[in-house]
Amino acid sequence: MDVREKSARAFEEKFGKKPTMQAYAPGRVNIIGEHTDYNGGFVLPCAIKYGTSMSAAKNGTGKFRILACDINNDYDEFEISENIEKNPDKLWVNYLRGMTQFIERKFKGKVEGLDVAITGDIPLGAGLSSSASLEVTFGHLVSSAFGLGIPLQEIALMGQASEAYIGMKCGIMDQTISACGTAGHALCIDCESLKLTQVPLPEGLVVMVINSNVKHQLVGSEYNDRRESCEKAAKILNVKLLRHATMDMLKEHQSELDDVSFRRARHVITEDQRVLDAIDAMKSGDLKTISKLMYASHCSMRDDFEITIPEIDGLVEIIREALGEGRGAVRMTGGGFGGSVVALVRPCDVEKVKQAVSAKYPAIAGRDATIFETPACDGAQFKTF
Ligand code: GLA
Repeated sequence: MDVREKSARAFEEKFGKKPTMQAYAPGRVNIIGEHTDYNGGFVLPCAIKYGTSMSAAKNGTGKFRILACDINNDYDEFEISENIEKNPDKLWVNYLRGMTQFIERKFKGKVEGLDVAITGDIPLGAGLSSSASLEVTFGHLVSSAFGLGIPLQEIALMGQASEAYIGMKCGIMDQTISACGTAGHALCIDCESLKLTQVPLPEGLVVMVINSNVKHQLVGSEYNDRRESCEKAAKILNVKLLRHATMDMLKEHQSELDDVSFRRARHVITEDQRVLDAIDAMKSGDLKTISKLMYASHCSMRDDFEITIPEIDGLVEIIREALGEGRGAVRMTGGGFGGSVVALVRPCDVEKVKQAVSAKYPAIAGRDATIFETPACDGAQFKTF
């Protein structure tokens, strides 16, 4: 059953009335540009066919009453206010508590209570931004329900602030693509100016997502550590953000940097260039170059940024071997430490990839991978019934 239909049915069952409105926002897969967003650089994600749906109706109180169908019908309610305590037992609801307080701070008194049923089909822990999709769906729901007209990019910023509220100092990529995706296109985000550029996906290429089924959990120190190293390197290089650094500048300051910070910065500086080069290659449909750039991105994440794990490295090599030199592109996608691999392949190679992964991956990972193909999809949506 489609998630929209599922959330509407769950709403009726739980609240005993029909929903009057519904919001939806997708997850994402990042084609290239990893850990560049919080360095003010470039990223190139697209929205996927899986997402989060919220069916809702006003409830005439000052409270949000929320049902999470996918988490064993877990339920939470909280008062709308400018300062909302985190719920120590329910991680999922804290994303919504965060969003609520940021909206309330800006639109004092304009938001009233809603009953909400949530369901989604983004695989959790797969590095496909289920939490960003949750924040953006909720922000768009509340904004639309009360006529606040919050621009989608501002909803994305509130989502990013909600992650920080929970303890994850993430960048702006995931929420922006979930809010602003366009069907058939990847989105180049300049993460400093927040300028958006649509980049059509080359015709005749399929986006495959291969979930390693090794769960990634980013609310943790590894991500924030990486961010700190980047900030430290930027300071030594005398730039506000690593986006403004060059390889020449990095080499000039090498002796002042410890080895780890040097390699973290090298990843970011080279990755920014790879994003720009990949956009050019996509424009001319040059699969050979896209393939080279995506593999270079993978190696840089593995060796310099150190965010891959053996299962993910193995998966990338299995797919590269199946595709053959320059015939398709593959790399890890997302924050790292598990999660998924993204591949851009010709339709005639899809089966080959699937077969190679199911034949070889279990031997290195002790589990199967899960594979899906996705078009690039639209971002956040809202409708009333
Ligand atoms: C996570 C974060 C993003 C981004 C990626 C890595 O998905 O939420 O902001 O930093 O990791 O590219």
